[in-house]
Amino acid sequence: MPKNCKCAKPLGIKVRCWWLLLILFFLMGLAIFIFYSLDQQASWPMNPWRIRSLSNQSYIDVTTSVDSYFVEYPHPYQFLMDEPNRCQEESPFLVLIIPVEPHNQEARNIIRNTWGKETMVLGHVVSHYFLLGLSTEGYGTKAFQEELLLESQRHHDILQSNFVDSYKNLTIKTMVMFEWLSTHCSNTSYAMKIDSDIFLNVQKLVDLLLKAPRQHYMTGHVD
Ligand SMILES: *[C@@H]1O[C@H](CO)[C@@H](O)[C@H](O)[C@H]1NC(C)=O
Ligand SMILES: *[C@@H]1O[C@H](CO)[C@@H](O)[C@H](O)[C@H]1NC(C)=O
Ligand SMILES: *[C@@H]1O[C@H](CO)[C@@H](O)[C@H](O)[C@H]1NC(C)=O
Repeated sequence: MPKNCKCAKPLGIKVRCWWLLLILFFLMGLAIFIFYSLDQQASWPMNPWRIRSLSNQSYIDVTTSVDSYFVEYPHPYQFLMDEPNRCQEESPFLVLIIPVEPHNQEARNIIRNTWGKETMVLGHVVSHYFLLGLSTEGYGTKAFQEELLLESQRHHDILQSNFVDSYKNLTIKTMVMFEWLSTHCSNTSYAMKIDSDIFLNVQKLVDLLLKAPRQHYMTGHVD
């Protein structure tokens, strides 16, 4: 405490101490600034540039998806291979849906032998299903379909719908997934869509979900 500052008097803040107050206000302002710029980058009022570029981005995204994907779905696709009762019988806590290309049996086997093997995690049932469309190569030839049927009978984890499985049709795949979940698996606490080239830490996920809300909850990687 500097000698010429007599702040010790009860209640009285002497005019000489004005600079102390100034420093205090400055520090508070700095703290508020840091809080906002860390927490709400997009809505920080002093950064109009960012707001403008964000709204432009979402404008562009919406129009593109209407043009090239939205019209694809309203169509009654049917399951050629299904597990209609498994979910009801197992009553899982977490269902993992893995979109995969029909020909990628290698990825399916790797998952079955690694993270897909974990069916009871922290006392909770976890089950996985592979979601496929029709093979583009040969348009689901009889021989390939027979091979796939054997795989399905062996593992009981294949859901195949009769739309053409292509990159552009991934929107259809996602909608078909929601349809399957709501008709066959509405009782599960959580469902997750996960790509076939990802390694999933099932323990960590279940641990996270056990602490998460049971309703109106959605999570994922937020950029
Ligand atoms: C942002 O959107 C406006 C229309 O809302 C448009 O005129 C402008 O060209 C867009 N900017 C970019 C970089 O796309
Ligand atoms: C949903 O699960 C609960 C137990 O978690 C069970 O009692 C109930 O019968 C199930 N309902 C259906 C429709 O499967
Ligand atoms: C998407 O699936 C539909 C239904 O099978 C098919 O008619 C269409 O050609 C597919 N689109 C692409 C780009 O593969």
